[in-house]
Amino acid sequence: MGSRVWLVTGASGGLGQALVSEVLGSGERAIAVTRDDEPPRPLTAAFPHDAEPRAQFEVDFFAAADVLRAALPYLRAAKAGRVLQISSLAGQIGAPGTSAYTAGKHALEGLSVSLAAELAPLDIRATIVEPGAARTVFRADWASRLPGSAALPDHLPVHEAPARSAGAVGGQVGDPARMARALVVLAGMPSPPLRLPLGSDALAGIDNARSDQLQELRRFATLSASTDHTKAI
Ligand SMILES: NC(=O)c1ccc[n+]([C@@H]2O[C@H](COP(=O)([O-])OP(=O)(O)OC[C@H]3O[C@@H](n4cnc5c(N)ncnc54)[C@H](OP(=O)(O)O)[C@@H]3O)[C@@H](O)[C@H]2O)c1
Repeated sequence: MGSRVWLVTGASGGLGQALVSEVLGSGERAIAVTRDDEPPRPLTAAFPHDAEPRAQFEVDFFAAADVLRAALPYLRAAKAGRVLQISSLAGQIGAPGTSAYTAGKHALEGLSVSLAAELAPLDIRATIVEPGAARTVFRADWASRLPGSAALPDHLPVHEAPARSAGAVGGQVGDPARMARALVVLAGMPSPPLRLPLGSDALAGIDNARSDQLQELRRFATLSASTDHTKAI
């Protein structure tokens, strides 16, 4: 344990900063990566609405894939290591008004599921981490970029729910320091899970979504199965 080195991206704030504190506090070493020396731009401020999905994918998908591509040669050479991919409850469910973020996190989960299967034979384990709402600046940044009265009138009702939830800054159940502690526990597990929700809200949200999906799967099973060939070869 003492010789483990963590590579933590997004380390100047939020969950990344909490994780670096937790890792150093537990006596391990960390390489804390930040984008630059400037004060961090909010995660969401970089995304003007016309180019939003592409910009969102740059951060949530391509940046994560690039960091992985750079790190994996070292993990492969060591035939050991852990990849903790920070997704979201939004990587498992969809919600009106959050389509670009949700799509980016779903893409990251797709990459990570395949990657986990490719890496397991090399004793490198990957876990998709799915936080619920955490008390960082993330939600306030999100609230500041919602279209509000600038939204197309037809879409205004759709934006109400995320605006309400984004406006509830300070009420998020997730404690970033406790989340960081859970990540350290996770990294020490010999057989870590493929996915780990963080927070009671993430747990309940994913549980409900999977139950609904299973119910729907069974309800339409006859139609789904009706497309098979009727004769064996
Ligand atoms: N907070 C939540 O409610 C919540 C819920 C579910 C999932 N998550 C996920 O958890 C992760 C961390 O979230 P957080 O709440 O810790 O976020 P945060 O407090 O808003 O920001 C944490 C770090 O993100 C980096 N960052 C900010 N803007 C960026 C941009 N435009 N491009 C690239 N990096 C940027 C910064 O890294 P540098 O140090 O490099 O500047 C910053 O230190 C994210 O992947 C987020 O999607 C958060």
